[in-house]
Amino acid sequence: MNAGDLTDFSPGFGNQHSSEAVPGALPLGRNSPQRAPLGLYAEQLSGSAFTEPRATNRRSWLYRIRPSAAHPPYHRVANGALRGAPFEETEPDPNRMRWDPLPEPPPGTDFVAGLWTLGGNGDARRRTGMAVHLYRANSPMTDRVFGDADGELLFVPERGSVSLCTEFGRLVAAPGEVALIPRGVRFRVELPDGSARGYLCENYGEPLDLPELGPIGANGLAAARDFLVPAAAYEDDTGPVEVITKFGGNLWAATYDHSPLDVVAWHGNHVPYLYDLRRFNVLGSISFDHPDPSIFTVLTAPSVDFVVFAPRWLVGEDTFRPPYFHRNVMSEYMGLIEGAYDAKAGGFVPGGGSLHNMMSAHGPDRETFLRASTAELKPQKADEGLAFMFETRWPVTLTAQALNSEHRQRGYDDVWQGLQRNFLV
Ligand SMILES: [Fe+2]
Repeated sequence: MNAGDLTDFSPGFGNQHSSEAVPGALPLGRNSPQRAPLGLYAEQLSGSAFTEPRATNRRSWLYRIRPSAAHPPYHRVANGALRGAPFEETEPDPNRMRWDPLPEPPPGTDFVAGLWTLGGNGDARRRTGMAVHLYRANSPMTDRVFGDADGELLFVPERGSVSLCTEFGRLVAAPGEVALIPRGVRFRVELPDGSARGYLCENYGEPLDLPELGPIGANGLAAARDFLVPAAAYEDDTGPVEVITKFGGNLWAATYDHSPLDVVAWHGNHVPYLYDLRRFNVLGSISFDHPDPSIFTVLTAPSVDFVVFAPRWLVGEDTFRPPYFHRNVMSEYMGLIEGAYDAKAGGFVPGGGSLHNMMSAHGPDRETFLRASTAELKPQKADEGLAFMFETRWPVTLTAQALNSEHRQRGYDDVWQGLQRNFLV
């Protein structure tokens, strides 16, 4: 979406936003007047405990046509290929894994029906850990609305835009942008390009935040002003709407007699947002050595970090410039939004992904090592692609479908074969 046009957005990260789709709908000076303006119902949506310190306290006040409480009972519906934490279908696996993109879904697959879980960690019921999902859809959600009580959802579109019609308004995220839906916020996914495919990080724990900058100073990496929060927009529709909620790892549904996207005005800091990864101010070495990839952190949380490998200049002298060989206590799921990644010569394609679990050894493949260790070290623009990483503190346990799927590349280990002995003694 055109992030340069701020008319329909409120910029900023973590601040208190407010918006009204109808003038006068937002009460001033109080949250819950005896009668809310325009006959609306006032409702608080909390994203943190009431007593959280100010810096981490999250809530929004919604002014809606009908209160959320007016709904019939929820009943369990099929999870499809969606799974939740704890992940216990397979044993944690130290092997390096890589996948091709998911096969195309059958016609008529909407966002919820197309969700496919790769794996994750922690426990949704204890609000800790994360999950890696993939989404693919070729049909818009109609008369269906989704919400996730288990965690916040970070959309990383790879092919086709997603239009996220939320309780707070509408965001359109195209490949190269990311969008976040906070815990509990309801939304419908429409498909401006007819179909869409991408990655989805579900964060069960404390919400994603901007990283501290330390000696970098007051500016750099992702700027708070580049995060865009939607303007209020509401639906005043009656008729059956299936509201699906993910709760404790499972899907539940209730049929409402109206659209729950009926919020006319709101204010608060528990809000959806959009961020254009091309706005990320990439920092790196201007002397020697490759910084740790934490320098590319866009958003951070105790359970998971979101890191982007955006176009940048490589100028290090006497330096092996691609990411070095490493073994980490962290576990890394990598995906590719477009192009190619500078540590892998082949096999890692847009829509695919790789998993390097805790302490598993990885780094440049043989071809990349040979090329980078003999290359002439002139300034070089690394702009062949846009890759990202969900980096998490605990090992990622795969779902059975991810371990056994036909699109998992058997023989991924081979990319490190042929790294021969070069020892000169
Ligand atoms: Fe890594």
